[in-house]
Amino acid sequence: MTLHTFPDRFLWGSATSASQIEGARFEDRRGESIWDRFASVPGAIADGSNADVACDHYHLWRDDIAMMSSLGLDAYRFSIAWPRILPDGTGQVNAAGLDFYDGLVDSLLEAGVQPFPTLYHWDLPQALQDRGGWGERSIVDAFAAYVDPVVRRLGDRVSNWVTHNEPWCIAVLGHEEGRQAPGHRDPAEALRVAHHVLLSHGRATEVIRNLAPDAEVGIVQNHCPAYPATDSPDDRDAARWFDGFFNRWFLDPIYRGEYPADAIADRVARGHLPGADLPFVHDGDLETIAAPIDFLGVNYYSRVVMRRNDEGRPEAVTMAPDDELTDMGWELYPSGLYDTLMQLRRDYRPPKIYITENGAAYTDPVAADGGIHDARRISYLRSHLLEAWRAIADGAPLAGYFLWSLLDNWEWAHGYEKRFGIVAVDLDTRRRTLKDSARWYRDVVAANAVEGFESDEVHVPSTRGESRAIDPRV
Ligand code: FCB
Repeated sequence: MTLHTFPDRFLWGSATSASQIEGARFEDRRGESIWDRFASVPGAIADGSNADVACDHYHLWRDDIAMMSSLGLDAYRFSIAWPRILPDGTGQVNAAGLDFYDGLVDSLLEAGVQPFPTLYHWDLPQALQDRGGWGERSIVDAFAAYVDPVVRRLGDRVSNWVTHNEPWCIAVLGHEEGRQAPGHRDPAEALRVAHHVLLSHGRATEVIRNLAPDAEVGIVQNHCPAYPATDSPDDRDAARWFDGFFNRWFLDPIYRGEYPADAIADRVARGHLPGADLPFVHDGDLETIAAPIDFLGVNYYSRVVMRRNDEGRPEAVTMAPDDELTDMGWELYPSGLYDTLMQLRRDYRPPKIYITENGAAYTDPVAADGGIHDARRISYLRSHLLEAWRAIADGAPLAGYFLWSLLDNWEWAHGYEKRFGIVAVDLDTRRRTLKDSARWYRDVVAANAVEGFESDEVHVPSTRGESRAIDPRV
């Protein structure tokens, strides 16, 4: 079997986010977040749960760091909870909140694990939502005022900062489709939200540059490559349509200082914008957004296949049989990761890319021998790492990989039902158990290499079966 070796100093990590693992909802003056509020709405969360306790990482973080160290991880991507730092969104900084992350960063460094904090992973203080949240321009100042004390406190030890996690999800799932907090269904608001998130990224970048000039700054984008269902002009245009708003709407402002004209026209045609002039874009905004960044974070899970349906509307479809879907209903499509990395390199030339999330939800029982034999997850990870390796060989500037996720955790509106962890968490005792995938990942990290597949193991995407419409939450 061929061993595919990664470059020297390739960074191997894992990723989590505050709301999904910390718990301790009411401790040390933590304020309410929009996700706490959303979880209290009947029917909003699939299993009716909330994240009040989650993985109880707020108390078990020392054990979790020890676990990362035993896996040999180089880096850990976590997020800072705005409602712990500023329980009311603005005003008085909560010292206990900063102390928590200060201790976490120190212990990570002692364990030889580089901290990669994300400043915003979806947990807006509810007090700011009550004042209009991301839909109001004043949120940009509020974000900068939150980032400031965090970087002042941690900036002497943190050398990589992520401003935002997945602006598309914040804007569209939260404000257009209502599937995530704060649960709005207002396409015009979603466009304002997207802009304010991007603008606040630019402002936060300035704050970090001033306070920690040696640190590297980036943003995390959930990239989803779009493929036409057939070669027809209609289907190709449906793929362009998806790519325009899912990917380019967020990357073009950052790398080119402009929104994509074709996607603006699509939104005007749908009545989400009054005309090609975007009313929420003020003079100077695009320069702020396009300030150079050091790395692009890419979250890759799956692809989308698009067609134009009988009513002429773009629609996502899949041809993959059920056994090629993860528990999220996402198609297993590793070569989409290769295509993504090569496309980003070609279109935006980022100096450095990290895969900031990649992983799969599968539920595997505890076996009679006490182990959790999650062979499907290992196969998912392995096939994606091989595609990452192939992209590096072809010139993609990929510097590291963060596996989603270290722990089984609170998967937002899916509650605790979707399990992405390489470590299982017992929901009653919070006891952690390494799955087979954790041991497998430990060996990959130690070898800095992944074993190739035998030819009969290679995953060929299925074109069997009828294509059927799906709901692409990617
Ligand atoms: C991403 C989120 C992350 C997790 C994974 C499965 O969209 O950033 O928090 O929910 O999906």
